[in-house]
Amino acid sequence: MRDTEEMSIREMAERLKRKDAEEIRVREMAGRLNRKDAEEMRIREMAESFFKEDLQADAGPEEDRRNREAVKKAQREKNLQKMKKLLLLHGQDILFAPGMQQEKSFIQHGKVSVFEHSVGVTLVSLMLAEKFKMKVDTRSLVRGSLLHDYFLYDWHDPHPEVGLHGFTHAKIAMENACRDFDLNEIEKDMIARHMFPLNLKPPKYAESRILCLADKIAATCETIRIPYCAEVIRELLEAV
Ligand SMILES: [Fe+2]
Ligand SMILES: [Fe+2]
Repeated sequence: MRDTEEMSIREMAERLKRKDAEEIRVREMAGRLNRKDAEEMRIREMAESFFKEDLQADAGPEEDRRNREAVKKAQREKNLQKMKKLLLLHGQDILFAPGMQQEKSFIQHGKVSVFEHSVGVTLVSLMLAEKFKMKVDTRSLVRGSLLHDYFLYDWHDPHPEVGLHGFTHAKIAMENACRDFDLNEIEKDMIARHMFPLNLKPPKYAESRILCLADKIAATCETIRIPYCAEVIRELLEAV
């Protein structure tokens, strides 16, 4: 009788312990989501200033202002064409691969497909590396950025087997990309860690840190509908 009582007390203690562990896990996840909200606000401000700074009216006489704007616009277009060439030089095989083509049928944000998003993120990665004059392996930067969301399913449909998309898709994308392409360590790190801080492991390489930021800037622009790199993305879509 005493044994049975002890057994049921032990069982109850075990259940309480499991409940505590579960509560801690849920609290940790909520904390990570809160931090993500704060991070998103900061990124939204950056995205707005990153793509709007060229459009702000300068002080000074009207004609000077117009000339300066025309020069800036021409420079921006020249830069974007340079990024497009780098993207095609290092990422052409990826763009034409069946898995990447499949991304055209999956929506990422709003009306933007995962394919368009990945191309846009790659252009932003290249622009950030140039803007901050960072020494990077350009080939890895292009390939890791193109493949960062290579999870290959529609995340808007329920997929109980993959868990919470935001927390799990980086790992799935990395496994799929390793299966279909020959990746170096930088490219693997970029894909696996692009969801930092939602995924806890921080990016290891400069290329991974750039991708982390580029992905958030592009996603914010897509969500709040700031057009970015629109012309070049359209040209690339027509080409591949
Ligand atoms: Fe992602
Ligand atoms: Fe992404």
